[in-house]
Amino acid sequence: MIGVITGSGISGISGPPERTPFGNTSGPIIQKEIAGQEVLFLGRHGEEHAWLAHRVPHRANIWGLYSKGAKAILSVGSVGGIDPSLSPGDYLVLDDLIDLNPPPTFYDGPGGPEVPESDDPISALINKGVGVHISFTEPFCPALRKILLSVIKEMGLPVRDGGTYIQTRGPRLESPAEIRAFGTLGAHVVGMTMASEAVLAKELGICFVGLAVVANMASGIRGARPSGSEVETAMKERAKEIGLLVEEFVARAGAGEREPCECALQPFLGIQSQAWRERLGKA
Ligand code: HPA
Repeated sequence: MIGVITGSGISGISGPPERTPFGNTSGPIIQKEIAGQEVLFLGRHGEEHAWLAHRVPHRANIWGLYSKGAKAILSVGSVGGIDPSLSPGDYLVLDDLIDLNPPPTFYDGPGGPEVPESDDPISALINKGVGVHISFTEPFCPALRKILLSVIKEMGLPVRDGGTYIQTRGPRLESPAEIRAFGTLGAHVVGMTMASEAVLAKELGICFVGLAVVANMASGIRGARPSGSEVETAMKERAKEIGLLVEEFVARAGAGEREPCECALQPFLGIQSQAWRERLGKA
C-alpha cells in the first residue's frame, strides 16, 4: 500500500489522530481507493496547520503509516527556492538532502520506546534496542523517483530531475545569510520537514519519494522576502494540480510497474551485530 503525506495549504483532512507507540499522529490517516489502489493519506500539519514544523510528530506519522501497511510513501512538501534558476511553481523530484535537525530515529537503543509485539522483524529490532545505522547514500527511492518524474513530465508541469533539500528546524523562515550559506553547502531548496520523514521511512524499509514544490524564492534570493501566508497561498493555488499528480502517481506506482530497489533491505543491512543478523535470518 502507498502512503501520501501532504503539507502546508493542501491537507484538507479532518478527524481524530491515530494513536501510536510514538504518540499521536498529526491527524487522521484516511484510507481511500484510487484507480484500484488502496492509498493512505495523512496531512503532516494536522487540521488548521495545528502542528508547526518544529513540532510535527514525525515518528508517530511514519509509524502510523507503516503499521497500516504502507510499503511506499510519497511526501509532498512546499519549499523555498535557493537555486536562483528555480521559480515558484517548479517541482523537484528530490535526490539528496541535508538535515540540520536533531536525529529522528526509531532505533533509540536500550530503554527506547516499545512497539506492539508482532512477528515483524523491524518491531523486534526496535523492542530489543538493537543498534541500526541505515545507509543514506540513496535517501530517496530510485524506482519511485522515475515514476513520479514521468507523471509530472507528462502533465507538462515544470519539473527538475533531482535536487538537494535542506531541512531547517523551523518554524521561522530563514535569514538571507542562512540562505546564502545553504546555497554554498549545495542545497537547491529549503524546507522544514521532509528530511526527518525520509530518515524515518528508510529506517523502516519503506520506499520514500519526496516531491518539493517551490512556493516562493527563499529569503534574499532575487530580493525575496517570503512570509508564511505567501507559502500557504502558493500551495493552495496548486492544490488541484498536486491532487491530480498524486492520483496518477499512486495509480502507476501501485500497479506493479516499479523497478526493483533495495529500500526494504536497508534496516537489516544497517544492523551492526552479526549475532542479530543471524537471529533475524537476514545476514
Ligand atoms: N523556507 C523554509 N520552508 C519553506 C519555505 C522557505 O522559504 N517555503 C516553503 N517552505
